[in-house]
Amino acid sequence: MVLPLDAAAPAAQQPDWPDTELLDQVRRTLAERPGLVAEDEIEQLSAALADAARGRALVLQGGDCAEPFADAAPATVRRKVDHLRGLASVLRSGTALPVVTIGRIAGQYAKPRSARFETLPDGRNLPSYRGDAVNDVTADRVLRTPDPTRLVTAYDSARRVLDTIRATGLGRPADERVYAAHELLLMPYEEPLRRTGRGGHYSASAHFGWIGDRTRQPDGAHLALAESVHNPIGVKIGPGAAPGDVVELARRLNPDRVPGRLTFIVRMGADRIDRFLPPLLDEVAERAGPVVWLSDPMHGNTVRTGSGVKTRYLSTIVAEVTSFARLLRARGLWPAGLHLELTPDPVTECVDAPGPQPDFPDYRSACDPRLNPAQAARIIDAFLALR
Ligand code: PEP
Ligand code: CO
Repeated sequence: MVLPLDAAAPAAQQPDWPDTELLDQVRRTLAERPGLVAEDEIEQLSAALADAARGRALVLQGGDCAEPFADAAPATVRRKVDHLRGLASVLRSGTALPVVTIGRIAGQYAKPRSARFETLPDGRNLPSYRGDAVNDVTADRVLRTPDPTRLVTAYDSARRVLDTIRATGLGRPADERVYAAHELLLMPYEEPLRRTGRGGHYSASAHFGWIGDRTRQPDGAHLALAESVHNPIGVKIGPGAAPGDVVELARRLNPDRVPGRLTFIVRMGADRIDRFLPPLLDEVAERAGPVVWLSDPMHGNTVRTGSGVKTRYLSTIVAEVTSFARLLRARGLWPAGLHLELTPDPVTECVDAPGPQPDFPDYRSACDPRLNPAQAARIIDAFLALR
């Protein structure tokens, strides 16, 4: 049985599923499957994030923008997890603090899109790629049509990924655990994967779920979904978020003011953070409960080069992280960490700084540009240098 949710709440950013009967069948299938994550794992993460809310731990959240199903292969998962663990250990040794490590992994299969359609160079219009849980990245009309059975493949892929993540953790100390997170986006995936445990309802689709900057409407289905579970929840906060709305989000998602329940992931853009973050921090610090503050210096800083390639400049990313840490510290708040799009592969998707015609010999991302290992290490070093 699918747990009840306010059915009246409109859900933004849902695909146009052509076959609603098949979609209902998929919902029933997912409701009958075992949960992907266990309630006690979620509680361990909540406790670790409570320390981050109190200024006694750091958080590193990172992974692909859009995770492909093909990446569920164990060798690929091991490389991603090793990469995250390596970056977390740099943070740990640079600060002597515990580091909560969370992948954008095992379910980051769905993307919100600003444009419903993509225009190809030959002028054809296709439905936008919305993540492997919805359609195929290949520019083909049939493959781009949303297919509900992909939601079941998403479940199966996430389970394989989680099996590998758990296997890599065997015999390691608890503080080296890697947790799984994704954007809580597709209602026919998220609703049926809720379960009832000792502590009430929880989402069994991930340890941590976040609500995107485009789906955090106060009367929307995503907020209702997050309210209905006790997992730690993140909300992306962009330059359009009014301070009063952000306080309201905190009241709704964390009425009991439990440290670790709520994370705000700030993604303003380097050119806007100095203007928009201060009033928001002041309101939240005064009127909302405890918050884990993370910087996502990626999503407010995406640009297109003259040749139309989506990229991000390291110089801009560092500038946003720098402002973030400075603005929080000036208010006695704790800059708990980073939310990054990164990969262990030596890709060329982000570049150093604006300049003449960068080239992108190894661009593989199905969605946003990611940091390669050397670039991710530079962002971690920049964050450490701000202490
Ligand atoms: C993302 O994290 O991939 C994303 C779409 O972010 P935002 O909601 O901040 O735009
Ligand atoms: Co992205």
